[in-house]
Amino acid sequence: MKVKPTDATLGAVVTGIELASLEAQTWRGVEDAFHEHAVLIFPSQHLSAEAQVTFGARFGRLEQLVPGMEIVPISNQRKDGSLLADSEHQMQVLIGNEGWHTDSSYMPISAKASILSAHVLPDAGGETEWADMRAAYDALDDAMRARIEGLAAYHSLFHSQAKIGHRAKVGAGYGFYEGEPPLRPLLKRHPVTGRTALYIGRHAYGIPGLSEQASEQLLTDLVNFACQPPRTLQHRWSVGDVVIWDNRCVLHRVRPYDHRQARVMQHTRIQGDPATESALSA
Ligand SMILES: [Fe+2]
Repeated sequence: MKVKPTDATLGAVVTGIELASLEAQTWRGVEDAFHEHAVLIFPSQHLSAEAQVTFGARFGRLEQLVPGMEIVPISNQRKDGSLLADSEHQMQVLIGNEGWHTDSSYMPISAKASILSAHVLPDAGGETEWADMRAAYDALDDAMRARIEGLAAYHSLFHSQAKIGHRAKVGAGYGFYEGEPPLRPLLKRHPVTGRTALYIGRHAYGIPGLSEQASEQLLTDLVNFACQPPRTLQHRWSVGDVVIWDNRCVLHRVRPYDHRQARVMQHTRIQGDPATESALSA
């Protein structure tokens, strides 16, 4: 196995292994690399759905974004091959993914990691980008660190979708959590590495103790500062690529593409540890 770090503060490209048939020792190498680099890119793996679920399950319990399903399409294409219109609910959720975010922060237990594999790609755009929230915290000045220490924000997919003009209905599906929105500290200590990371993104809002406007300004300023080189990494997908990232310390987003072309990814999401990824309010 070869692990080649990128030029950014996060991410590595891993070659020389087959994820579909990992041996115990290789798996340990993958897990160590995951903790160190936070984003691992495995080119040309062409995993079956079953193999992707098996690989994901090595990291922990899988979330079911659709009841009974441990792998779900992230796709603008229906099963019959037709494409979603931008006005449709599911397409509005995909468009929302163009904003920097971390997965499942809007649920009582946030996600540990996410896996994507590429199946059908548009001619241009549709890249995925990640931003390193460990390096972002390290780069903050002392005044900002002191300012955000002890602050927390609510996280809600209803809220982040409303900001792009999408009014999701109650019962709209996974992520549209109808309980009290989870409250989460702006700083997250990684349960394995111990590194402190900013825990922010588009689902965050409403910092208790700040006005709505001051909260929005602070969260926007933090994302704008954090998601800058050398802390960002972009991957231009090829069919068969597999990527896993650590939602506890990176933000991600999809880059725009022409929605008249199909983009079909398969997604597996690993649930966080209730001991470390539960909301303060849970
Ligand atoms: Fe996401």
